[in-house]
Amino acid sequence: MIRNVAIMGATGAVGQELLTILEQRNFPLQNLKLLASERSVGREYKFKGETLKVELTCPEAFKGVDLVLSSAGASVSKEFAPIAVDAGAVVVDNTSFFRMDPNVPLVVPEVNPEDIKLHKGIIANPNCTTIMMVVALKPLNDISKIKRIHVATYQSASGAGATGMAELKQQYQEIVEGKPVTVKKFAHQLAYNLIPHIDVFTDNDYTKEEMKMYNETRKIMHSDVSCSATCVRVSALRCHSEALWIETEKPISVEEARAAIKAGEGLQLFDDPANNGYPMPLDLMGKDDVYVGRIRKDLANENGLNFWLVGDQIRKGAALNAVQIAERL
Ligand code: A2P
Repeated sequence: MIRNVAIMGATGAVGQELLTILEQRNFPLQNLKLLASERSVGREYKFKGETLKVELTCPEAFKGVDLVLSSAGASVSKEFAPIAVDAGAVVVDNTSFFRMDPNVPLVVPEVNPEDIKLHKGIIANPNCTTIMMVVALKPLNDISKIKRIHVATYQSASGAGATGMAELKQQYQEIVEGKPVTVKKFAHQLAYNLIPHIDVFTDNDYTKEEMKMYNETRKIMHSDVSCSATCVRVSALRCHSEALWIETEKPISVEEARAAIKAGEGLQLFDDPANNGYPMPLDLMGKDDVYVGRIRKDLANENGLNFWLVGDQIRKGAALNAVQIAERL
């Protein structure tokens, strides 16, 4: 029985969304603890009409806690998730640290809810672009096995957390005021720009973000599907978008795909080209579902299908998926 819940990284973009979602969904808890670094200790937030004060993330903070929702970065999870588990908590971890650990299930409730049962204290929440992609792939894979995925992502500043969004706003302000542009969080100026580089480069010249899409998709879908990604940071504030080219064992018609997406869990079909109707990040901030449009046959592959999706990376891509895992627990 979950009574005492802690949010680790409560002051961050995902932490704040966790607070909102726990309240909106009336998550059954008795006590909520907000944890962050010493920078934020004592800061106050409202939850269900009560004022909660931020406490320091330290080993003693996890005493009596049943569930930790963590989003304070990989190094903080590495240090504190095992301590929380030893103290008797289940940790739903938003960072990349435990995702590929064979002893840690990696879960998207619409796709592999049965894996939750295999946990030994830690359940990992996948990478945001991977979560949104596999939610859309699930009903298509049920029609015919997906063999190959090519994907290009268009990832907003929110993927770099609260400080990422603040830096994008600051850059636009500085441009308007004719001041030098501050570049700290991203490798280059993001305002009026696209940066084809998210997370660090790996030995094969793909970035870690791109390799997360390859590896995590296979683990979540229990599939040998291959996924080749190009991940791009764009100057949208919130919501990630993805252009996908998939190859299935048997061809899937556009009509079949539309029907499957329409009926799929956690999905909304928005595919109305005649009326300029397709998902866009500006319209979908704060929404729970993944929106899919632009579904069409791949002109370069008989067994191929192309489509476009958009989802709120802070909600389904992170906080909402974590709370949905906790609800299933
Ligand atoms: P703080 O606000 O005290 O720095 P985001 O991804 O939006 O930048 O949020 C990161 C979250 O992780 C924040 O809540 C931040 O708290 C927290 N955090 C960062 N470093 C640490 C740390 N060393 N110990 C505990 N919490 C941390």
